[in-house]
Parts: sequence; C-alpha cells; structure tokens
Amino acid sequence: MDLSSLAPNGLAGVIAFETHIAEPDVEGGRLRYRGTDIEDFMGNVHFEDVWSLLVRGDFNAPLGGNAELPELPTHGDVRIDVQSGIAALASAWKSHQIIDMSPDDVLSDLRKTSEALLALTARSARTCEGRTGGTTNEGNTAAERFLSQWRGEVNPRHAQAIDAYWMSAAEHGMNASTFTARVVASTGADVPACISSAVGSMSGPLHGGAPARVLWMLDEVEKADNAHTYVNNLLDSGNRLMGFGHPVYRAEDPRARFLRRAAKEVAAPRFEAALALEEAALQALQERKPDRVLATNVEFWAAVLLDFAQIPAEMFTPMFTCARVAGWSAHIREQIGLNKIIRPSARYVGTKDCALADVEGYAQLKK
Ligand code: ACO
Repeated sequence: MDLSSLAPNGLAGVIAFETHIAEPDVEGGRLRYRGTDIEDFMGNVHFEDVWSLLVRGDFNAPLGGNAELPELPTHGDVRIDVQSGIAALASAWKSHQIIDMSPDDVLSDLRKTSEALLALTARSARTCEGRTGGTTNEGNTAAERFLSQWRGEVNPRHAQAIDAYWMSAAEHGMNASTFTARVVASTGADVPACISSAVGSMSGPLHGGAPARVLWMLDEVEKADNAHTYVNNLLDSGNRLMGFGHPVYRAEDPRARFLRRAAKEVAAPRFEAALALEEAALQALQERKPDRVLATNVEFWAAVLLDFAQIPAEMFTPMFTCARVAGWSAHIREQIGLNKIIRPSARYVGTKDCALADVEGYAQLKK
C-alpha cells in the first residue's frame, strides 16, 4: 500500500467513490438525480417520488406515510429528538444489522426509517411548540402529511413550498453527512444507526450554511427600502452576502433557480423584495469580483420559501434533514453494494520513542 501521498485536509477534491446517484454539473449549473434534471420535477412529481427515484432508480414505490413510532423521550430540541429517536428505533423495531440482511430487507428498513424521520420531526416540532389538540396523518403528499402531523391542519401552498424545498435538497453528492452515512453503512451496522449518525453530522453549522442569516438581510432590505444601498453598505463593512457564492458551483446553483421558481409559483409575499435583494447582490458582486462567478446559492431561495411556509429558523436544519434522508438512503444502498469497509489511513507524525515515565502525569499514577 502506498502511504506516501497525503490527501488535502478535509479531503477536498478527493474522489472516494463512483456513484450512480447524483451529478452536480459544476460548470453548467445543473443538478441531476439518476440522470434526471431536477428542473423537470416541479409540477410533475413530489418528494416521495424523488425518494423512490434516488433510492430505487424508479418511481414505482414512493415514500408512504405510515410510520409507527414508539413512545420516545423529548428533549425540547428537534434535532436531538430526531437523532436519538432514530437511533432508538433499532431497539424498538429489533432491527437487524445490514450485514445480516437481504437487499430487499435493507430497502424496507430504509423506507421505514425515512418515514419515521419525517414523522419524528413533525411530532417533535409539535411538542417543542407546545401545540395541543388533534393531529392527523392525512394528505396526498409527504409534505401535506408532515404538516398535518405537525400543525393538525394543512395549508396547501405551504405544503407545496415544503415539497419543492425537499425535492431540491434531497441529494447533493459527497457532503459530510452523506459520507458519514456511507462510513457507518460500510461497517454493516443497522439502518437506524446509519441515519442517526448522518443526522448528527448534518447538525453542525458548517453543513449547508445558515439560511436564517438570509432572512436577517431580507428584513433589513425591507426596512431600508433600497436594496442597492443596503448591499453596498454591507459589503463596504467587510461582510459577506449570505446566500451567494458556492464552494462547488461555478455557475448559478441549480437549486436556487428551482426554488426561485417555486417561490414565485406559491406567490410568496416576500418574493419581490427577495428578487430586488438578489439583483442588487449579483450586480455588486459582479462589480467587485469581476473575475469570479459569485451567483445565488440554494440557501437564499430556501430561506424565502421556508419563511413563506412559516417554518421557524430553528427548524431549517431539521427540514434539510427530512429532505436529505432520501440521498442518505440511496448512498447507504450503494455503499452496501461495494461490500468494503471505509478505512482510510493516517500518517503518524507524533512523538516517537517516549518512555512511559516521561508521559505527563505518570508520576502521580504511581503515588
Ligand atoms: N459575499 C461577499 N463576498 C464573497 C462572497 C459573498 N457571499 N462569496 C465569496 N466572496 C468573495 C470572497 O471573500 C473572496 O474574496 P477575496 O478573494 O477578496 O478574499 C472571493 O469572493 C472569492 O471567494 P470564493 O473562493 O469563490 O469563495 P469561497 O470558496 O472562499 O467561499 C462560500 C464559498 C463560503 C460559499 C462563500 O461564497 C460565502 O461565504 N458565501 C456566503 C455564505 C453562504 O451563502 N453560505 C452557503 C453556501 S451554500 C452551501 O454550502 C450548500
């Protein structure tokens, strides 16, 4: 084994797998799930169908809404409820470990766990908001069922906004949480262990940025009434414009385009203000960084759309988790097919030949 080459910190640019699941087209600003452009989804399919496309490669078995949830403790924090709740499903369901399961049984556990993740998120959001009164599991789409479990009622346009957001955020190649899901799957652990680990990986603020900050900018633009002045003042003071630029895309983030269209279709009241802010931001960035493509990213229009659906900012990451469970499930299946544990190497650069007695604290142990 050649251990002479060291991968860059963070593994940026390292190709660890071949995948059939998604293809972010960096230069052209397109995103395809199993070869299908996400632009074609709106008005034709829903998130539950996209789950089937990503995980199975067809539309034949959409995600359902019949998750059976055991009684679980609540912690007053949706992320912790979901992460710990998913892990606890393994004992409640007496899940087998992937290594002992047939491919069909793994698929069945991925489906059950994905359905449970949506239901757990809705239930936890409901509890955290102190909502009382009846809840239902009714609706024609996963987003409608989610809202009825959370709020006890469904605003169809809110459901449409959530559906669009979930479809756009369902999969995006080899990010930190997807990598985590694959690492755990490669050990042969049970499906709830894979998914709850991915939830933990996604919970850090560096995964997906902070759409809440876009809303602060929008609030200020609405107050200032002149997007250009606001944007230029912000840049002059050394701040970045949230929702612009991308570590991967060197063209418009295709998810931004998709979600802009969705925000227009649901007639989000802040659409015009957001558009004015976006235009002013793009113009200022172009003027200041003419050699760089700094375009709108997914966070910008996701914030507008989720705000329209009355999703509080603290629920933005759990909503992202609901979407990305589709991508994680697809990657877990793909990883199992490789039948190989993920086990990179590290080059040791620490202290050599240190005597036991020279280790700090050893003398105290001997007293
Ligand atoms: N506002 C102002 N200036 C910016 C912005 C921005 N949004 N994005 C990049 N720049 C500037 C950088 O400061 C840099 O300037 P410099 O050369 O004078 O130092 C220059 O443009 C080039 O930056 P890049 O190399 O293209 O950007 P980088 O890869 O360093 O960062 C990042 C990408 C972190 C996304 C950045 O664009 C940013 O901070 N955006 C705002 C935060 C945001 O929207 N995050 C969500 C990203 S989407 C996602 O992660 C799924």
